[in-house]
Amino acid sequence: MRSFSTLLAFSLLATSGVLGQKVVLTNDDGWTAAQIPAEYAALKVAGFDVILSAPAVDKSGTGSSTATPTVLTSACECSTVALLVRLLSGATRLTVGLTTPMLSLDAVRFGIQTLAPKFFGTKPDFVISGFNIGNNLGSGITGSGAVGVASEPAKEGIPSIVFSGASGSLSYTTLSQTTASSTVSANFYTSLIIKFVNALLNNTGAILPTGISLNVNSASTLSCTSASSYKFVLTRLTSSNSATDVTTCGTNHLPAESTVIKTGCIATVSVFNATTKADVGAATQQVV
Ligand SMILES: *[C@@H]1O[C@H](CO)[C@@H](O)[C@H](O)[C@H]1NC(C)=O
Ligand SMILES: *[C@@H]1O[C@H](CO)[C@@H](O)[C@H](O)[C@H]1NC(C)=O
Repeated sequence: MRSFSTLLAFSLLATSGVLGQKVVLTNDDGWTAAQIPAEYAALKVAGFDVILSAPAVDKSGTGSSTATPTVLTSACECSTVALLVRLLSGATRLTVGLTTPMLSLDAVRFGIQTLAPKFFGTKPDFVISGFNIGNNLGSGITGSGAVGVASEPAKEGIPSIVFSGASGSLSYTTLSQTTASSTVSANFYTSLIIKFVNALLNNTGAILPTGISLNVNSASTLSCTSASSYKFVLTRLTSSNSATDVTTCGTNHLPAESTVIKTGCIATVSVFNATTKADVGAATQQVV
Protein backbone atom coordinates (compact mmCIF):
# COMPACT_ATOMS: atom_id res chain seq x y z
CA MET A 1 0.00 0.00 0.00
CA ARG A 2 1.29 3.41 -0.86
CA SER A 3 1.51 5.99 1.84
CA PHE A 4 0.41 8.93 -0.26
CA SER A 5 -2.64 8.52 -2.33
CA THR A 6 -6.03 9.87 -2.84
CA LEU A 7 -9.10 9.14 -4.72
CA LEU A 8 -9.61 10.62 -8.07
CA ALA A 9 -13.26 10.92 -8.70
CA PHE A 10 -14.18 11.14 -12.27
CA SER A 11 -17.72 11.70 -13.19
CA LEU A 12 -19.00 11.38 -16.68
CA LEU A 13 -22.51 11.57 -17.84
CA ALA A 14 -23.13 10.17 -21.24
CA THR A 15 -26.06 11.35 -23.25
CA SER A 16 -29.10 9.35 -22.26
CA GLY A 17 -29.23 6.14 -24.18
CA VAL A 18 -31.90 3.59 -24.85
CA LEU A 19 -31.47 2.04 -21.47
CA GLY A 20 -30.37 5.03 -19.45
CA GLN A 21 -29.58 3.00 -16.34
CA LYS A 22 -27.24 4.72 -13.95
CA VAL A 23 -24.05 2.84 -13.26
CA VAL A 24 -21.18 3.48 -10.89
CA LEU A 25 -18.09 1.84 -12.36
CA THR A 26 -15.14 1.17 -10.09
CA ASN A 27 -11.92 -0.84 -10.06
CA ASP A 28 -9.64 -1.47 -7.12
CA ASP A 29 -6.72 -1.82 -9.54
CA GLY A 30 -6.88 1.93 -10.04
CA TRP A 31 -6.85 4.17 -13.02
CA THR A 32 -4.09 2.47 -14.99
CA ALA A 33 -6.15 -0.65 -15.53
CA ALA A 34 -6.98 -0.65 -19.24
CA GLN A 35 -10.46 -1.89 -18.49
CA ILE A 36 -11.58 1.44 -17.06
CA PRO A 37 -11.64 3.43 -20.30
CA ALA A 38 -12.65 0.37 -22.33
CA GLU A 39 -15.65 -0.32 -20.10
CA TYR A 40 -16.62 3.30 -19.82
CA ALA A 41 -16.72 3.65 -23.60
CA ALA A 42 -18.67 0.42 -24.11
CA LEU A 43 -21.23 1.19 -21.42
CA LYS A 44 -21.76 4.60 -22.94
CA VAL A 45 -22.31 3.13 -26.40
CA ALA A 46 -24.75 0.66 -24.83
CA GLY A 47 -26.76 3.59 -23.51
CA PHE A 48 -25.82 3.71 -19.82
CA ASP A 49 -25.10 6.77 -17.72
CA VAL A 50 -21.77 6.16 -16.03
CA ILE A 51 -19.91 7.56 -13.05
CA LEU A 52 -16.37 6.31 -12.64
CA SER A 53 -15.14 6.39 -9.10
CA ALA A 54 -11.93 4.52 -8.42
CA PRO A 55 -8.70 4.91 -6.45
CA ALA A 56 -5.99 6.90 -8.17
CA VAL A 57 -3.48 4.10 -7.66
CA ASP A 58 -3.72 0.32 -7.40
CA LYS A 59 -5.40 -0.71 -4.14
CA SER A 60 -5.62 -4.44 -4.76
CA GLY A 61 -6.00 -6.70 -1.76
CA THR A 62 -7.56 -4.12 0.51
CA GLY A 63 -10.75 -6.16 0.97
CA SER A 64 -13.40 -4.18 2.77
CA SER A 65 -10.84 -1.97 4.56
CA THR A 66 -11.32 1.73 4.77
CA ALA A 67 -8.71 4.34 5.66
CA THR A 68 -8.11 7.88 6.75
CA PRO A 69 -7.34 9.88 3.63
CA THR A 70 -4.02 11.44 2.78
CA VAL A 71 -3.05 13.93 0.13
CA LEU A 72 -1.83 12.75 -3.25
CA THR A 73 1.66 14.00 -3.95
CA SER A 74 2.23 12.63 -7.44
CA ALA A 75 0.36 12.66 -10.75
CA CYS A 76 -0.86 9.06 -10.27
CA GLU A 77 0.58 6.03 -12.00
CA CYS A 78 1.52 6.70 -15.61
CA SER A 79 -0.02 10.18 -15.39
CA THR A 80 -3.38 8.51 -15.84
CA VAL A 81 -5.33 11.58 -14.92
CA ALA A 82 -4.14 13.27 -18.09
CA LEU A 83 -4.72 10.08 -20.07
CA LEU A 84 -8.31 9.76 -18.91
CA VAL A 85 -9.07 13.38 -19.56
CA ARG A 86 -7.89 12.83 -23.14
CA LEU A 87 -9.79 9.59 -23.59
CA LEU A 88 -13.01 10.73 -22.09
CA SER A 89 -13.25 14.36 -23.05
CA GLY A 90 -15.89 13.50 -25.65
CA ALA A 91 -18.39 13.19 -22.82
CA THR A 92 -21.19 15.70 -22.66
CA ARG A 93 -20.28 16.65 -19.13
CA LEU A 94 -16.95 16.06 -17.51
CA THR A 95 -16.08 16.63 -13.92
CA VAL A 96 -12.73 15.80 -12.45
CA GLY A 97 -12.47 16.07 -8.72
CA LEU A 98 -9.58 15.42 -6.43
CA THR A 99 -10.83 14.37 -3.11
CA THR A 100 -9.61 12.72 -0.01
CA PRO A 101 -10.77 9.11 0.48
CA MET A 102 -8.14 6.52 -0.22
CA LEU A 103 -8.94 2.82 -0.51
CA SER A 104 -11.11 1.13 -3.08
CA LEU A 105 -14.00 0.84 -0.64
CA ASP A 106 -13.80 4.56 0.05
CA ALA A 107 -13.85 5.14 -3.72
CA VAL A 108 -17.06 3.23 -4.31
CA ARG A 109 -18.71 4.83 -1.29
CA PHE A 110 -17.79 8.22 -2.69
CA GLY A 111 -19.29 7.23 -6.04
CA ILE A 112 -22.54 6.01 -4.50
CA GLN A 113 -23.01 8.45 -1.66
CA THR A 114 -21.58 11.70 -3.04
CA LEU A 115 -21.23 11.62 -6.83
CA ALA A 116 -24.44 9.77 -7.71
CA PRO A 117 -26.76 12.16 -5.83
CA LYS A 118 -24.83 15.06 -7.33
CA PHE A 119 -24.78 13.94 -10.96
CA PHE A 120 -27.63 11.42 -11.23
CA GLY A 121 -29.83 13.14 -8.67
CA THR A 122 -30.45 9.70 -7.21
CA LYS A 123 -28.62 6.54 -6.22
CA PRO A 124 -27.19 4.40 -9.03
CA ASP A 125 -29.19 1.50 -10.47
CA PHE A 126 -26.21 -0.76 -10.05
CA VAL A 127 -22.47 -0.91 -9.49
CA ILE A 128 -19.84 -2.71 -11.54
CA SER A 129 -16.52 -3.57 -9.90
CA GLY A 130 -13.74 -4.73 -12.23
CA PHE A 131 -12.70 -6.35 -14.43
CA ASN A 132 -10.22 -7.12 -11.74
CA ILE A 133 -6.78 -8.16 -12.89
CA GLY A 134 -6.66 -11.76 -11.64
CA ASN A 135 -9.49 -14.11 -10.73
CA ASN A 136 -11.16 -13.99 -7.33
CA LEU A 137 -12.26 -17.53 -6.57
CA GLY A 138 -13.56 -19.45 -3.57
CA SER A 139 -13.14 -18.58 0.10
CA GLY A 140 -10.15 -16.37 -0.81
CA ILE A 141 -12.49 -13.63 -2.03
CA THR A 142 -12.73 -12.16 1.48
CA GLY A 143 -9.34 -10.44 0.98
CA SER A 144 -10.13 -9.09 -2.47
CA GLY A 145 -10.47 -5.36 -2.93
CA ALA A 146 -12.64 -5.90 -6.01
CA VAL A 147 -15.05 -8.10 -4.05
CA GLY A 148 -15.00 -5.73 -1.08
CA VAL A 149 -15.96 -2.92 -3.43
CA ALA A 150 -18.94 -4.90 -4.77
CA SER A 151 -20.08 -5.89 -1.29
CA GLU A 152 -20.51 -2.32 -0.12
CA PRO A 153 -23.27 -1.25 -2.54
CA ALA A 154 -25.06 -4.58 -2.04
CA LYS A 155 -25.14 -3.85 1.70
CA GLU A 156 -26.57 -0.41 0.88
CA GLY A 157 -29.32 -2.00 -1.23
CA ILE A 158 -27.75 -1.28 -4.63
CA PRO A 159 -27.26 -4.28 -6.95
CA SER A 160 -23.64 -5.01 -7.73
CA ILE A 161 -21.47 -7.36 -9.73
CA VAL A 162 -17.76 -8.01 -9.47
CA PHE A 163 -15.97 -9.18 -12.61
CA SER A 164 -12.51 -10.72 -12.51
CA GLY A 165 -10.40 -12.07 -15.34
CA ALA A 166 -7.50 -14.48 -15.47
CA SER A 167 -4.30 -12.53 -14.96
CA GLY A 168 -1.82 -12.82 -17.76
CA SER A 169 -4.41 -11.70 -20.24
CA LEU A 170 -5.26 -8.51 -18.37
CA SER A 171 -2.73 -5.89 -17.52
CA TYR A 172 -2.04 -2.21 -17.15
CA THR A 173 -1.84 -0.49 -20.47
CA THR A 174 -3.15 2.34 -22.49
CA LEU A 175 -5.77 1.42 -25.02
CA SER A 176 -3.91 3.39 -27.66
CA GLN A 177 -1.67 0.33 -28.00
CA THR A 178 -4.48 -1.32 -29.90
CA THR A 179 -2.76 -4.62 -30.63
CA ALA A 180 -1.23 -5.12 -27.16
CA SER A 181 -2.55 -8.35 -25.65
CA SER A 182 -3.73 -6.42 -22.62
CA THR A 183 -5.78 -4.09 -24.82
CA VAL A 184 -7.26 -7.02 -26.72
CA SER A 185 -8.14 -8.70 -23.40
CA ALA A 186 -9.61 -5.49 -21.98
CA ASN A 187 -11.90 -5.19 -25.01
CA PHE A 188 -12.77 -8.90 -24.88
CA TYR A 189 -13.74 -8.74 -21.22
CA THR A 190 -15.59 -5.50 -21.74
CA SER A 191 -17.90 -7.17 -24.22
CA LEU A 192 -18.55 -9.87 -21.61
CA ILE A 193 -19.71 -7.17 -19.20
CA ILE A 194 -22.09 -5.70 -21.74
CA LYS A 195 -23.48 -9.12 -22.62
CA PHE A 196 -23.92 -10.07 -18.96
CA VAL A 197 -25.45 -6.77 -17.87
CA ASN A 198 -27.87 -6.70 -20.79
CA ALA A 199 -29.04 -10.21 -19.92
CA LEU A 200 -29.42 -9.25 -16.23
CA LEU A 201 -31.39 -6.13 -17.03
CA ASN A 202 -33.63 -8.00 -19.44
CA ASN A 203 -35.71 -9.22 -16.50
CA THR A 204 -38.57 -7.22 -15.12
CA GLY A 205 -38.56 -6.50 -11.40
CA ALA A 206 -35.56 -6.11 -9.10
CA ILE A 207 -32.19 -6.52 -10.78
CA LEU A 208 -30.88 -8.71 -7.94
CA PRO A 209 -32.10 -9.76 -4.49
CA THR A 210 -30.93 -7.43 -1.71
CA GLY A 211 -27.82 -8.18 0.34
CA ILE A 212 -26.13 -10.29 -2.30
CA SER A 213 -23.68 -9.69 -5.09
CA LEU A 214 -22.49 -11.71 -8.07
CA ASN A 215 -18.94 -12.97 -8.33
CA VAL A 216 -18.16 -13.39 -12.03
CA ASN A 217 -14.83 -14.90 -13.04
CA SER A 218 -13.66 -15.33 -16.56
CA ALA A 219 -11.22 -17.88 -17.92
CA SER A 220 -8.29 -16.49 -19.87
CA THR A 221 -9.12 -14.99 -23.22
CA LEU A 222 -6.65 -17.55 -24.59
CA SER A 223 -9.29 -20.24 -23.91
CA CYS A 224 -11.76 -18.55 -26.21
CA THR A 225 -11.90 -17.66 -29.85
CA SER A 226 -14.28 -14.73 -29.28
CA ALA A 227 -16.07 -12.94 -26.49
CA SER A 228 -19.38 -14.26 -27.76
CA SER A 229 -18.20 -17.86 -27.33
CA TYR A 230 -17.94 -17.53 -23.52
CA LYS A 231 -20.47 -19.63 -21.64
CA PHE A 232 -21.76 -18.37 -18.30
CA VAL A 233 -22.07 -21.14 -15.72
CA LEU A 234 -23.84 -20.81 -12.35
CA THR A 235 -21.43 -22.00 -9.67
CA ARG A 236 -20.69 -21.91 -5.92
CA LEU A 237 -17.77 -20.15 -4.28
CA THR A 238 -16.75 -23.32 -2.46
CA SER A 239 -17.62 -26.95 -3.12
CA SER A 240 -20.03 -28.59 -0.73
CA ASN A 241 -21.41 -32.12 -0.60
CA SER A 242 -24.01 -31.26 2.01
CA ALA A 243 -25.44 -27.98 0.67
CA THR A 244 -28.61 -28.13 -1.39
CA ASP A 245 -28.37 -25.66 -4.25
CA VAL A 246 -30.83 -24.51 -6.83
CA THR A 247 -31.59 -27.29 -9.30
CA THR A 248 -29.96 -26.66 -12.67
CA CYS A 249 -28.91 -29.15 -15.32
CA GLY A 250 -30.60 -31.96 -13.38
CA THR A 251 -28.70 -31.58 -10.11
CA ASN A 252 -29.07 -29.60 -6.90
CA HIS A 253 -25.32 -29.40 -6.31
CA LEU A 254 -23.65 -26.50 -8.06
CA PRO A 255 -20.00 -27.01 -9.01
CA ALA A 256 -17.26 -24.89 -7.42
CA GLU A 257 -16.18 -21.92 -9.52
CA SER A 258 -12.46 -22.77 -9.21
CA THR A 259 -13.14 -26.18 -10.81
CA VAL A 260 -15.42 -24.98 -13.57
CA ILE A 261 -13.22 -22.13 -14.71
CA LYS A 262 -10.49 -24.59 -15.71
CA THR A 263 -12.78 -26.34 -18.18
CA GLY A 264 -12.54 -23.99 -21.15
CA CYS A 265 -14.17 -20.87 -22.49
CA ILE A 266 -16.19 -20.26 -19.34
CA ALA A 267 -17.26 -17.40 -17.11
CA THR A 268 -18.45 -18.58 -13.69
CA VAL A 269 -21.23 -16.79 -11.80
CA SER A 270 -21.52 -17.35 -8.04
CA VAL A 271 -24.10 -15.65 -5.83
CA PHE A 272 -22.59 -14.51 -2.55
CA ASN A 273 -23.78 -12.89 0.63
CA ALA A 274 -22.31 -9.38 0.70
CA THR A 275 -21.97 -9.46 4.49
CA THR A 276 -20.36 -12.86 4.95
CA LYS A 277 -18.85 -13.19 1.44
CA ALA A 278 -20.06 -16.80 1.50
CA ASP A 279 -22.44 -18.81 -0.70
CA VAL A 280 -26.17 -18.11 -0.36
CA GLY A 281 -29.01 -20.61 -0.11
CA ALA A 282 -30.93 -22.23 -2.96
CA ALA A 283 -33.85 -19.80 -2.78
CA THR A 284 -31.61 -16.79 -3.45
CA GLN A 285 -29.67 -18.66 -6.15
CA GLN A 286 -33.02 -19.44 -7.77
CA VAL A 287 -33.91 -15.77 -8.12
CA VAL A 288 -30.61 -15.04 -9.83
C1 LIG B 1 -34.25 -10.71 -23.46
O1 LIG B 1 -35.41 -11.51 -23.30
C2 LIG B 1 -36.01 -11.91 -24.52
C3 LIG B 1 -37.30 -12.62 -24.19
O2 LIG B 1 -37.09 -13.60 -23.19
C4 LIG B 1 -35.01 -12.78 -25.29
O3 LIG B 1 -35.56 -13.17 -26.51
C5 LIG B 1 -33.71 -11.98 -25.50
O4 LIG B 1 -32.75 -12.81 -26.12
C6 LIG B 1 -33.17 -11.49 -24.20
N1 LIG B 1 -32.01 -10.61 -24.42
C7 LIG B 1 -30.86 -10.76 -23.73
C8 LIG B 1 -29.81 -9.74 -24.03
O5 LIG B 1 -30.68 -11.63 -22.93
C1 LIG C 1 -26.22 -12.83 4.82
O1 LIG C 1 -25.64 -13.23 6.04
C2 LIG C 1 -26.18 -12.57 7.17
C3 LIG C 1 -25.33 -12.99 8.37
O2 LIG C 1 -25.29 -14.37 8.49
C4 LIG C 1 -27.64 -12.92 7.29
O3 LIG C 1 -28.21 -12.25 8.39
C5 LIG C 1 -28.36 -12.51 6.00
O4 LIG C 1 -29.71 -12.94 6.05
C6 LIG C 1 -27.71 -13.16 4.80
N1 LIG C 1 -28.34 -12.62 3.58
C7 LIG C 1 -28.66 -13.37 2.53
C8 LIG C 1 -29.32 -12.67 1.38
O5 LIG C 1 -28.43 -14.57 2.46
